[in-house]
Amino acid sequence: MTNFDFYPYSQISVGPLHSGAFEAALTEFQGRKIVILVDENTHDCCLDYLLTQFEALKNAEVIVIPAGEDNKVMEICMQVWKALTDYHISRTDLLINLGGGVVCDMGGFIASLFKRGLTFMHIPTSLLAMVDAAIGGKNGVDLEGLKNQLGTFNHPSHIFVDPAFLSSLPEKELWNGHAETLKHGMISSISYFETLLQIDTTDKLIEASDIVESIRVKSQIVTEDPSEKNIRKILNFGHTFGHALETYFLTRSPIDHGHAVALGILVETFLSKQLLSFPENAFLKTIQHISKLFEVLCPPREEWDEIWESMLQDKKNDRGTVRPVLLKNIGEATLNTSIDYEQFKSGMTFLDVLAHPK
Ligand SMILES: NC(=O)c1ccc[n+]([C@@H]2O[C@H](COP(=O)([O-])OP(=O)(O)OC[C@H]3O[C@@H](n4cnc5c(N)ncnc54)[C@H](O)[C@@H]3O)[C@@H](O)[C@H]2O)c1
Repeated sequence: MTNFDFYPYSQISVGPLHSGAFEAALTEFQGRKIVILVDENTHDCCLDYLLTQFEALKNAEVIVIPAGEDNKVMEICMQVWKALTDYHISRTDLLINLGGGVVCDMGGFIASLFKRGLTFMHIPTSLLAMVDAAIGGKNGVDLEGLKNQLGTFNHPSHIFVDPAFLSSLPEKELWNGHAETLKHGMISSISYFETLLQIDTTDKLIEASDIVESIRVKSQIVTEDPSEKNIRKILNFGHTFGHALETYFLTRSPIDHGHAVALGILVETFLSKQLLSFPENAFLKTIQHISKLFEVLCPPREEWDEIWESMLQDKKNDRGTVRPVLLKNIGEATLNTSIDYEQFKSGMTFLDVLAHPK
């Protein structure tokens, strides 16, 4: 079991759920009600293990929500809040979010607002949630197609990461998680970046050591800047273009968050090379690695203005400028470069050429 004792907000434990820490945490809730939030898939693939192996959860209430990003919305939160009310849940009871990033983000949001704050734990079950969404205390839901437009900063009391849950995760979802670990590698260190470039099979993807390293990168950055005033923003590498592309495709033919981040990394690495002399060698390795693992998509040129507008709306922006996180080198992210419309178009042209090679 690996613990991250430097992280002051939640107890993070990586290892088999059955190795003691989870049971110990549950004893704090003896005599309290426990609710487990799942989506349809984690209901089918992950819930049984909790209900049958942990005495304290035998009588837990279970709330099932439909799976997928489309359901990360207020309407579903309302239904969950009503169910919590029907179960007479009070602030000292416990909500366990058992699922991917959608369940963790939305469950954290639901817990934050319910009676001004219900204690909650995350048990992330997708790779993306294990290395990223469950760590850092950001909770939220989408509003009218805009990602995470409503949200809170509020940390779960505990985060239990058990890589065994990944055995039922569809392959595509494993690669989605890889996009966020690659981001962690690119903003943190050459050695971790090089390790991640070696990953080309799903077996290699779920190596516990890489999961631990990714959690370490994220939790160290969050510890340094919990409310995203400064350094934490570097975790948005790949996300300025990534979120705008995800939003664009959401109303057409939706793409996964991890896929969108991978596309965002392509463009933002290109802009890093153009504007900050990011090294050619690392640029080529990044482009080859992502192009091999993800389908490169680019909206038609006549719709690029919609992407630009969406980036101007991004809540990460300051004073109407678009400021993607760019890299001077692997491990050297900078927040100080804003891009103009022409630079945006050159980034999109690069993506277009990759998506439609002659
Ligand atoms: N809060 C943050 O800091 C943060 C960071 C990154 C991403 N996110 C959010 O995370 C979300 C994406 O997370 P995601 O990729 O996990 O999406 P997801 O929660 O939709 O999970 C992906 C799919 O895998 C299924 N699934 C999850 N675990 C499973 C398992 N063990 N076995 C079988 N099926 C399983 C889910 O039901 C879903 O169909 C986005 O909403 C994104 O905005 C949040």
